[in-house]
Amino acid sequence: MKKILVTRKLLRSCEDKALKSFDANLNLNDELYSQKKLIEMSEGKDGILSSLTDKLDAETINKLPETIKIISNFAVGFGNIDLEAAKTRGIAVTNTPDVLTDATAEIGILLILGACRRASEGIESAKECNWKWSADYLIGKQLTGARLGVLGMGRIGQKIAKIAKSLGMIIHYHNRSKLSEEKEQGAVYHDNLKSLLSVSDVLSICCPASKETIDMINKETIEYLPKGAVVTNVARGDIVEDEALIDALERRKVYAVGLDVYKNEPNLNPGYLKYKSAFILPHLGSATKETRTAMANLAIDNIDEFFKTGDCKNKVN
Ligand code: GLV
Repeated sequence: MKKILVTRKLLRSCEDKALKSFDANLNLNDELYSQKKLIEMSEGKDGILSSLTDKLDAETINKLPETIKIISNFAVGFGNIDLEAAKTRGIAVTNTPDVLTDATAEIGILLILGACRRASEGIESAKECNWKWSADYLIGKQLTGARLGVLGMGRIGQKIAKIAKSLGMIIHYHNRSKLSEEKEQGAVYHDNLKSLLSVSDVLSICCPASKETIDMINKETIEYLPKGAVVTNVARGDIVEDEALIDALERRKVYAVGLDVYKNEPNLNPGYLKYKSAFILPHLGSATKETRTAMANLAIDNIDEFFKTGDCKNKVN
């Protein structure tokens, strides 16, 4: 049986599956392993079932024992892993696509609704019982007829676009390449970021974090947005330069933000706290029982497939 280090606690049924499939070293207390501890714990193991909280940078990967052949990331994103360093060491990296599309798109829509309809302020006032109905109380932005700019029209972006369209939004998108008409579902393609941002009454960031997308939403690009735009991010915090977005909230260039992800999680840039128009969640994208179960099971199956066949359809490096 292959020896696998599971770095974070999984749902019970998935831990049972891991124990049936491998000689699995579970993390029952859900301790956050330091990079040093993760390297030590990997001693004698054949693979690691990692999560997005494990920073597997080049330095850490280079110190992993020779026996490690696979890092199976319990996430669709893999910005926490240096893919090149892993490849150079002959370590396969896999992810868990598809199974979290629906749950993450649901949170993407929640961010749009929460930011546009001033949910943070509303929740606070309701709990404090200090509000009074009036014709202009907590007036927000209506989605019907508004233009949604989807940055990154992959699986999650497409699902958000589909739901948003059913809410009456007009969909625009930017991607490295134009999608087929079937996948576009009537959305308007923009071949560059500036063009997309200039029509985005609401922006939904759905692209992966990569060298090309880090800090893509910054001081300069925010200026392309229409005044009073809403910025939402369901992808990765690294894509947004927080100081620039906070400054845009201050200047009312940006009306509201909806963030499920941000740099340096869980330490939110305190600059956001000043703004009631910031609707912020603690990285809940895939957090449903069905999805977290499917993700962990897929992460286990990826390891299984890799050791049985020498390859894996969800290999990303
Ligand atoms: C969640 O953020 C994931 O990448 O799976």
